[in-house]
Amino acid sequence: MSGRKEERIMGKIYHSITELVGHTPIVEFHRLGEALGLKGRIAGKLEYFNPAGSHKDRMALEIIEAAERRGEINPATTTLVEFTSGNTGIAMAAFAAAKGYKFKIGLQNGVSEERLKLLEAYHAELAEAPQELLENVFNKGIAAFNEVLDYFLEQTPNGYATRQLSNEDNINAHYLHTGPEIWEDTEGKVDIFVGGVGTGGSTHGISKYLKEKNDQVKVVIVQPDPKDVEHPIVEKAEDGGFHGIHQVHDDNGITAMAPDNFSEKYVDDYEFISYAETLRAIHLLAKYEGIFVGASAGAALAVAIKQALKEENTGKLIVPLLPDNGERYLSEDLQRVRSEIEEKVGF
Ligand SMILES: Cc1ncc(COP(=O)(O)O)c(C=O)c1O
Repeated sequence: MSGRKEERIMGKIYHSITELVGHTPIVEFHRLGEALGLKGRIAGKLEYFNPAGSHKDRMALEIIEAAERRGEINPATTTLVEFTSGNTGIAMAAFAAAKGYKFKIGLQNGVSEERLKLLEAYHAELAEAPQELLENVFNKGIAAFNEVLDYFLEQTPNGYATRQLSNEDNINAHYLHTGPEIWEDTEGKVDIFVGGVGTGGSTHGISKYLKEKNDQVKVVIVQPDPKDVEHPIVEKAEDGGFHGIHQVHDDNGITAMAPDNFSEKYVDDYEFISYAETLRAIHLLAKYEGIFVGASAGAALAVAIKQALKEENTGKLIVPLLPDNGERYLSEDLQRVRSEIEEKVGF
C-alpha cells in the first residue's frame, strides 16, 4: 500500500508518517517583496513541512515503496544502506523506522552534531568508511560514492543500496508529486522555478513536469560560488556550508560532479550565489515573513530575489524550492557570521 495522503482510507487519524509526505504549502512573500521593492512575486515552496523535515522525504519514500512494489526489498530481511550525511539520511532513517526496516548509514566527513543526533534518534546504524575512501569524495564524482556504498554492501547481509545519486525513483518522486503540486497550487501561473542540485532529483523531476505543462516556464539553477566552497566562511564543511547543493555547470558545460539524476535538458539558466547572499536571503525571510530556512533554501531564495528585482520580470510568479528549515543548522551560529559579511550584499 502506498502511504500517500490522498490514498488514506478514512477519518482524520493517520496511520503512519508515510501518509504525511508531500502537499507542502506554497507561501507568497508579500512583506519581503514590499521591503525590497521587488518587481516580480516570490512564492516559496516550504518543504520543511514534510514529516522528517525536508524535500528528501519524498524521494526516500518513493525509493523504498518502488523497490517494495518490484519485490526487491521487505522489512523482514532487508537492511537499507545509503551514504550521506544530509537530509536523505534523516528521511531514510525516519521512513525505514516507520516501515520496520533496518537502516545503515555511511557517514561523510564533517557531519554536524544535529544530524548525528537526529540519525541516532531514528535508530539508524551509523557506519564509518575507511578514511582513504572518504577523502575528497565530493570532488571525485559518482564513482567515488559508489565505491563507498560497495564497501558497506560487502559488510551487510541482504543490504540494499538506495543510491540516491542515480535512482530514477528519486526523480519520479518529484515528477509525480512536487511538480504537479507547484502547477496546481499556482493554478498553472508559475513563470520561473528556482532550485539547486545535490542529487539532481528534485530539479529534474519538477522541471520536467512544469515544462511538459508549459514549455515557457523558465528554470534557473542556483549554484554555490566556488570561491566560498573552496574557502568556507563558517566551517570546514566540504560543501562550503551550502548544505546539499553544488556546482554542476561551468563555462565548459557540465562538470564532473553532475550526478546521473541531473539533466540540463530542462534548465534555462545557471546563477552563482555567494555565501553572503545566501545568509542575507535567510535573514530577510526570517525578518519579514517569520520563516527560517536552511542554506540551500537561502541560496535559491537569493536567486529568486535577483530575478524579482529585474524589470523584465515585473508581475511574474517566481517559485523557489526551499528544501529545509534553519533549525537543522543552529550549531553553525549563522547570526554572528551574517552580521560580519552581510553589508557586501546588493539586496
Ligand atoms: C538541504 C538540501 N538542499 C538541497 C538538496 C538538493 O536536492 P536534490 O538532491 O534533490 O538535488 C539537498 C540534497 O542533498 C539538501 O539536503
